[in-house]
Amino acid sequence: MKRLTVVLFPLGLATIAGLLVALSGSPQAAKDYQVAYHPEQPIHFNHRLHAGEMQIDCQFCHTYARRSPSSGVPTVQTCMSCHKVVNGRTEAGKADVQKLRDAYAKNEPIEWVKVHDLQDFVYYTHRAHIQIGQDLAKVGDEGFTCQDCHGPVEKMETAELRAWDPELDEQPLTMGWCLTCHIKKSKDAALVIKLKKEAFQQGVPWETLIGKVEATEHDVEMTKYRLRDCWTCHK
Ligand code: HEC
Ligand code: HEC
Ligand code: HEC
Ligand code: HEC
Ligand code: HEC
Repeated sequence: MKRLTVVLFPLGLATIAGLLVALSGSPQAAKDYQVAYHPEQPIHFNHRLHAGEMQIDCQFCHTYARRSPSSGVPTVQTCMSCHKVVNGRTEAGKADVQKLRDAYAKNEPIEWVKVHDLQDFVYYTHRAHIQIGQDLAKVGDEGFTCQDCHGPVEKMETAELRAWDPELDEQPLTMGWCLTCHIKKSKDAALVIKLKKEAFQQGVPWETLIGKVEATEHDVEMTKYRLRDCWTCHK
């Protein structure tokens, strides 16, 4: 709770009271996120083979159309675009590919076990993050990609929950982890937001304004405030 105390400071008591009331009906205490958690899956899907060796783009399989429990995991259809013809390498792999074909024939989904599972009172969305991660890289920030949050998935045999961030020294999926990045990126995010707003008004692509428009201290403060406001992540 140390980090929580730090961020509670600048906020009105009413806000906090409201939030705590809203949260009081929420389940269990914070999950004890395990180190390198990787549950047994119905099919041994190998990221190292598909995303590493074969370099299939992450977003070919993980499309974030909407946010539902299984929104990010590919359908059998996606796998079958190759596995109608591609068999496995190993005996176990061939058996798994057969499972895939059986599921397809019966029009049944594969019941993948969720690796990540934030508690319901936390609001998280991929869309905003994937976009800003790319946009930040255009304004001199190092930006961020899937791997910054999920680790080197393309080197993993099975998708696993990242244990801790070597740079941030934080456990992922905790509030402190989210906030550390939010605070660190506030300044550059404010610039991107400002550029986009100006570009919209002028009817030009936002990238053309890089270096010509700067974010004011006020812009930065507003973004920092929003990115650590309780309601941004708890609504
Ligand atoms: C060919 C399809 C495919 C590609 C390409 C792919 N994945 Fe996956 N991914 C899956 C499947 C299937 C699962 C569910 C099984 C599992 O968890 O291992 C999964 C699971 C995951 C999970 C865990 C999901 C959870 O339950 O929390 C993460 C994180 C992930 N992938 C990230 C990535 C990243 C990052 C890349 C690119 C480097 C990538 N994936 C490329 C198919 C794919
Ligand atoms: C772009 C094509 C492509 C897509 C999409 C794809 N795969 Fe594969 N998969 C391959 C290839 C190629 C191999 C290797 C076959 C070989 O070397 O004989 C393979 C191998 C496998 C194997 C066997 C591994 C082994 O060790 O024998 C399994 C299981 C598998 N894929 C599952 C999946 C699942 C599940 C999905 C969907 C989430 C998927 N694949 C999507 C191309 C694809
Ligand atoms: C800013 C950090 C961050 C980035 C960048 C990010 N993710 Fe995630 N990802 C998360 C969090 C947090 C969750 C857990 C969401 C939940 O449980 O509600 C998650 C969950 C997932 C899941 C589980 C299914 C789901 O949708 O909840 C998959 C699959 C996944 N991410 C893949 C990806 C891929 C692929 C990329 C890059 C295109 C990516 N992520 C980029 C933080 C990130
Ligand atoms: C690697 C850095 C990073 C991490 C880790 C991260 N975020 Fe963010 N997040 C950002 C940035 C940058 C923005 C600003 C994007 C914007 O407002 O356009 C943002 C924006 C948001 C927004 C506002 C989106 C919107 O549409 O207004 C929410 C909600 C959010 N993050 C939730 C979370 C949660 C919850 C976690 C932890 C589970 C998390 N973030 C972890 C970088 C990160
Ligand atoms: C950037 C996103 C983000 C912001 C901003 C944020 N939180 Fe959280 N909060 C989280 C996440 C993620 C968790 C879940 C942590 C876990 O499960 O370990 C969480 C958990 C909590 C919990 C439950 C702790 C527990 O033990 O389960 C409380 C209470 C809480 N937050 C209060 C607040 C308050 C008060 C604020 C504003 C000062 C705030 N949060 C701002 C992301 C955020």
